[in-house]
Formats: sequence, C-alpha cells, structure tokens
Amino acid sequence: MSDSIILGIESSCDDTSAAIIRGNKILSNIAANQEIHNDYGGVVPELASRAHQQNIIPVVEKSLSKANIQQKDISAVGFTRGPGLLGSLLVGTSFAKSLAMSLNVPLIEVNHLQAHILAHFIDDANIMPPKFPFLCLTVSGGHTMIVLVKDYFDMEIIGKTIDDAAGEAFDKIGKIFDLDYPAGPIVDRLAKTGEENSFKFNKPRLENYDYSFSGIKTSVLYFVQKEVKKNPDFIKENLANLCASVQKSIVEILMDKLEKASRDLNINEVAIAGGVSANSGLREAMQQNAKRIGWNIYIPKFEYTTDNAAMIAMVAKLKFDRGEFADLSVSATARYDIEEGFSQKNDQI
Ligand code: KG4
Ligand code: ZN
Repeated sequence: MSDSIILGIESSCDDTSAAIIRGNKILSNIAANQEIHNDYGGVVPELASRAHQQNIIPVVEKSLSKANIQQKDISAVGFTRGPGLLGSLLVGTSFAKSLAMSLNVPLIEVNHLQAHILAHFIDDANIMPPKFPFLCLTVSGGHTMIVLVKDYFDMEIIGKTIDDAAGEAFDKIGKIFDLDYPAGPIVDRLAKTGEENSFKFNKPRLENYDYSFSGIKTSVLYFVQKEVKKNPDFIKENLANLCASVQKSIVEILMDKLEKASRDLNINEVAIAGGVSANSGLREAMQQNAKRIGWNIYIPKFEYTTDNAAMIAMVAKLKFDRGEFADLSVSATARYDIEEGFSQKNDQI
C-alpha cells in the first residue's frame, strides 16, 4: 500500500494547488497564487473561483510532469472538501470527481483543517513525526485553535478564538498600517528590524484555552489614530517598531494558552500548523519553550504552512491505506468541523 501514488488537490481559498505523493514522500507540490486579490485588500470569492478554473488544469499537469508521473500511474485522487469558500471548493471538487471517474480510481475527500495538522506526517516534514497524543496550535487566516490530536482522525478542539483568527488579526492590523493583503508575512518581515518592546497593547483575559484578537486590533487602531493626529507620519516613522510590537503581542497571546494547555494536560509533544505557523516570532517562541519547558516541538517546513496540496495528498494517502473512499455524490462544504473528518452533517450544496 505504501507505494501508492496519489494526486492531491487544494482549492479552498485563493491558492490552486496540486501535489503528488508516493508513500509518505512528496514528489511535487505546485501552487498558483492569485495575486489579483492584492488590489482588493482581501480575497474576492467570485474572482477566486474564476481563477481556480483557469489554473486547475495547468497546475495538475505541472504536478504530474514535475513528479515524472503519468495519469495512468495515479492510484487515487484526493481533494479538499471543506472548509473554505464554496465557489472555490466546487472547482477542486468537480475536477477531482471527474478525474477519478475517468481514471476509474478511488476518490478521497479531505478536511482542510485536519490536513494542516497531518502535514506533520509527510516524510520530510520532521525528523520524527509527532507522537500521539499531541497538541497542535492551528493558526490560519480563518481559524485559530488548540487541537488535541489523539490519533490521525481523532481530534478535539480544546480552545478556539471567539472572534478574529490570528492570521486575520495580522492582516487587519497590517491594513491599518496601509500594508498590502495578506499583511501577515509583511508584518513578519518588517518586525525583524523593529524593537518589539516599543509599544504595548492590551491582551485579552479569557477563561480556559480560548482566544480573542479583536481587542488588540481595536487597541492598535485607537493608538495609531491618536498618534497620527499629533504626527501624520507616525506610522511611516515607526512601522518596523509597530510591526515588531504587534507580532510580539499576538505571539504571546497564542503561546500563553498553548503553554497552559500543555501544563494542564501534561502533554509535551507540541506542534504548530497553518499559515501563521510561518511566522518567525511564533517559531522562535516555540524554540524557546522547547528549551525552557522541554517540549518536543514540530514546526512545519515553510511550503507546508500556508495552503498547499501536499498536505491534502498526505491525508488522502492515510485514508487510502484505510480504504476510506468517497462516493461520487460527495459535495463541497463551506463549513467542516475538524472533529468531524467524515461528517455529512454540515452545510452542503
Ligand atoms: O493557512 P492559510 O494559508 O490560509 C487559510 O486557511 O486561512 O493562512 C493564511 C494566513 C493569512 O492571514 C496570512 O497573513 C497568514 O496566514 N500568514 C502569516 C505569515 N504567513 C502567512 N502571518 C504571520 N506571519 C507570517 N509569516
Ligand atoms: Zn489553510
């Protein structure tokens, strides 16, 4: 079974991606990013769906040629069923269904959030994969949660954001600083030359392991508005320091709860996943906790942090080995809980 060759397709948001996995080894991982959204300060669903339609065939062809694989060699087709933008998901879902049907191979549906976490099981992701049970801070543009991963498909959310996601906070605060979308990677880059203790922002006080990021966004907005009244060039003159201070606050908020969960549950296997796991401040904080608390940490390679099809192919491979196939009536779903890997209960079209 381990020599299966699986094509994974990801189209949940604004990246069209295709990857080939053989066993647990990624042979290719191709993505077409949609720069068209940068001008709008966020992803425009209609444009995303149209761009997926244009990109999907060339992206899949490129993933095959880079892996040196022919269509006839494919053992199964995996695709992101949800969560995500419905119009975007539909493009990948329909394409995967027709390809699986024409090649007469199994079709495998994948939960995008589970995939972010299970990317840690790709061969070159870690020296050793995490051991169950582990905690995974899953942080992206749409989600922020601490997941207790008991087994590949047995996951429990123990804490989550009650408002904005961490990536959303980076993007919205970046917008206040007049940075392009998505601002997360830009804030990260600018923070490197700034002083992180320049400005202090309020931190939320929430029970248990839940998060909130709308407070820091408002606190940055009011602070900046007040300063700009005194000095119109305030943002420009303090950009690196502002970014470093914001990044420090967001990372501290994320890490405080993760550390609390690790202590309470007595789990020292700790991973991060999702787009924000590319953040250098968060990666550094994980390294520090590995030294200070003795965590065994799992930090994804950059190519497996933001949306990619390699992680979809990885989950499809795990399901292929278990014989968990979807039938052709499967539909895309905008909402898809991480705890319900195979659920049919959510919103469907
Ligand atoms: O996982 P992802 O690619 O897509 C979603 O499923 O949402 O995450 C995208 C999010 C965006 O909000 C982006 O700003 C953020 O991840 N992001 C970062 C960094 N790279 C991506 N945030 C902070 N620092 C980064 N280096
Ligand atoms: Zn994602």
